[in-house]
Amino acid sequence: MPHIPILNDGTPLSELINHDTREVAMRTLSDEQIYQVEMKKIFAKTWVFLGHETEIPNSGDFLVRDMGSDSVLVTRDKDGDIHVALNVCPHRGMKISTHDSGNTPIHTCIYHGWAFKPNGDFVGAPADKECMHGKMMTKQQLGLKKARVAEYGGLIFATWNIEGPSFEEFLGDAKWYFDTLWCRTIEGMEVLGPPQRFVIRANWKTACEQSASDGFHTMTLHRWLGEVGPYAKKPDEEGKGGDLSPEMYGSEVWTDHGHTMRCIDLDRKIRRITGKDPSALSAREKLELLPPPGITPEMVPQLLERFSDEQLELMSWRPPQVGNFFPNGLFEFIYLPQPDGTVVGAMALHAYIPKGPDKLEFVNWILAEKDTPPELKAKMLRQSVQLLGTSGMVEQDDSDTWPHQTIVAKGAMSADITLKYQACYETKPPSWPGPGHVGDGFTKDDTQWQWWQYWYELMTA
Ligand code: FES
Ligand SMILES: [Fe+2]
Repeated sequence: MPHIPILNDGTPLSELINHDTREVAMRTLSDEQIYQVEMKKIFAKTWVFLGHETEIPNSGDFLVRDMGSDSVLVTRDKDGDIHVALNVCPHRGMKISTHDSGNTPIHTCIYHGWAFKPNGDFVGAPADKECMHGKMMTKQQLGLKKARVAEYGGLIFATWNIEGPSFEEFLGDAKWYFDTLWCRTIEGMEVLGPPQRFVIRANWKTACEQSASDGFHTMTLHRWLGEVGPYAKKPDEEGKGGDLSPEMYGSEVWTDHGHTMRCIDLDRKIRRITGKDPSALSAREKLELLPPPGITPEMVPQLLERFSDEQLELMSWRPPQVGNFFPNGLFEFIYLPQPDGTVVGAMALHAYIPKGPDKLEFVNWILAEKDTPPELKAKMLRQSVQLLGTSGMVEQDDSDTWPHQTIVAKGAMSADITLKYQACYETKPPSWPGPGHVGDGFTKDDTQWQWWQYWYELMTA
């Protein structure tokens, strides 16, 4: 029998979700006790995204990052291997590194001077001949607590679940799609500087369930996107549903472990930019006419070499443009129209770090392929800064809703309110090249509902 946690007021955690009516209790967005369970059952169990390997290119480089409520050291050792260990001294519990990042061959605790290798092994304590670490435990027993690490397309993930599913199993069907984003070139990607970071007074799940491919909010909350500047709809861009933007239509994919994505149709963009009929073009021709964000026509042969015909079809027709890594990552690979009629891509990755039931830290990495020409990188960086992250015009909208949801979830009457995910896909695309669950048409709630389903599975496991 699974052990279902019981909340202090006697409510079993299993009652927070109604599977038949696709509702989630509002209290999940602010409850301290639920938050504590999440830290153990989700962030101590799944794979968590921590950073990019190009943030620590050299031997001895390190980052201090968060895995749920725990601070961790992300390090590179002299052999080039990456390690993740709890940033807590096993002597008396001091935080080992109080920096955000740096370089050192040995991490020395400032309190009594215990020292550790980048891989977390204990080296020794000062006054060696006095044996200040005692004789009751071996040096092997006194190392930092080590996490299991996976590198994927340059991204660094870690988990405390040492015997649990592999990272590939965790990605499941999402891997087929994510490969087309993160594993596109021989040289791979790099970060364009350190990530932007800022704190929002909101529960982490407000941002993360939205990140699970909520397309619907863009129509209202980001309405200005279709009205101003280079993003404004052109007179020829009538949507299929009257004034509904064509961007609201496409395919959405959801997978068993809560990873989801919106695959937005490129046909209209290709037609507008090139004046050509996309149905008369091969995948290769379409990729050369409108390459994915960060890719130039000269780089397209690398895509042709790496991906199957089905993946190339996806990339040239309905590529994943926004989506999430469960539990707390969001990616954006978006095609942005410019005033001169060209398109510039933006590539960003966010982590929403839980910092208590009412607080999250928003971390925004901006990325490009290493091979991307410098002038395109500069444009991509400018475009990302303008729209995404700290000062980003899009995410200023988003980060205004999350705190309001978190605060109202505390109201006495709000206890009876539920979050509803009842708009369901009724059609699949006639043919679809990839795995997973797929819906076709106007954006719906299935992806976010799947996010909550996996949240529930872990919380009640
Ligand atoms: S707490 Fe780290 S050496 Fe004492
Ligand atoms: Fe948004």
